[in-house]
Amino acid sequence: MELMGKRIVLGITGGIAAYKAAELVRLLIKQGATVQVTMTEAATRFIAPVTFQALSGKPVFCDQWDPRVANNMAHIDLSRDADVLLIAPASADFLAKLAHGLADDLLSTLTLARNCPLLVAPAMNLQMWENPATQRNIDTLRGDGVAILGPACGDQACGEQGPGRMLEAEEIVAELVAFFQPKLLNGKKVLLTAGPTFEAIDPVRGITNLSSGKMGFAVARAAREAGAQVTLVCGPVSQNTPRGVTRIDVTSALEMHAAVMQRAALHDVFIGVAAVADYRPRSAAEHKIKKDGNSAPSIELVLNPDILSEVAALPVPPLCVGFAAESHNLAEYAEKKRVTKKIPLIVGNLIQDSFGADGNTLILFDENGQLPLPPAPKLELARQLVARIATLLENR
Ligand code: C5P
Repeated sequence: MELMGKRIVLGITGGIAAYKAAELVRLLIKQGATVQVTMTEAATRFIAPVTFQALSGKPVFCDQWDPRVANNMAHIDLSRDADVLLIAPASADFLAKLAHGLADDLLSTLTLARNCPLLVAPAMNLQMWENPATQRNIDTLRGDGVAILGPACGDQACGEQGPGRMLEAEEIVAELVAFFQPKLLNGKKVLLTAGPTFEAIDPVRGITNLSSGKMGFAVARAAREAGAQVTLVCGPVSQNTPRGVTRIDVTSALEMHAAVMQRAALHDVFIGVAAVADYRPRSAAEHKIKKDGNSAPSIELVLNPDILSEVAALPVPPLCVGFAAESHNLAEYAEKKRVTKKIPLIVGNLIQDSFGADGNTLILFDENGQLPLPPAPKLELARQLVARIATLLENR
């Protein structure tokens, strides 16, 4: 219920992507929003208003002269209580109208008359998108403070391939959720590690840690929602990259170390969420080690670098945050790690609460003591952590 209580006016313009707007309305309602749909005449050629009436539970408005609006002021009334006006799909023609302030139908008039933020999800053929006229209009709209969602690149209904596809409904919902988050890290650069590392013994075997990557990915998403520019260095995980986050895939601790050390000094914040393997085999066998049936091979292990400690020891380090996953004595071990690694904030959790789960219970340890965060979904906890990091940055 990420959009609980939000009032969204959804404008649908003419384009084949209008069919995706049906799924969009369903997802918005599922997230707790109320949705008032308004369609252009062209949009009704692609999908019938009754579909949206059924999905939104509200009458759909298409006509400026709709007699159902008592004062005949649909263009004013429809957006007055709205938290946001979202136009998806937004056709090239409609974007041109918006850029020039035209108001010749209900949707363009209510857009001009709105007193709430405007988000548009363009959808068109790639040549139309790349046309200098459309790009000029997009620049104008950006300059006017309109948020442009997408477009995505890929297969187009016309058979061509390239930029111009409307974002998928889930992606638009994720953008809306992000839009409503406070921009606590606006303009900041955040670097994170997430997931496990894998230390090869031979081409098929290795040493690793249990880590789904869920917490790290949630923190990356929360930081991006808060307005940060986010780079996520992650070990082998099967998680979808949060929208707008730059992802760098690595396998071993040494690769993670190299990827982080190249970038750390350029960032305002470094958050080590990864479960980095403490040791690696001195060397990985080139070929699969064959069993001889009688004895087990010995594997010589060497220490991996401690990435977090090294970042914290940079001449001008970013604000460093660590994670401590423990099975017992959480407070004692977490605080000890914070002091040894010389970092201002460490996030403690019990492995029995956290591993692979969608929720968790965290305790934040800093020089002032402990702050327990009660059990919650990982994304919610990540948002609280981001708020704490923003405060520490302010007081730095
Ligand atoms: O020392 P320990 O592994 O318990 O500390 C956990 C914290 O240190 C986590 O934030 C983890 O990402 C980070 N770490 C690291 N490099 C290592 C080991 C841990 O960055 N080699």
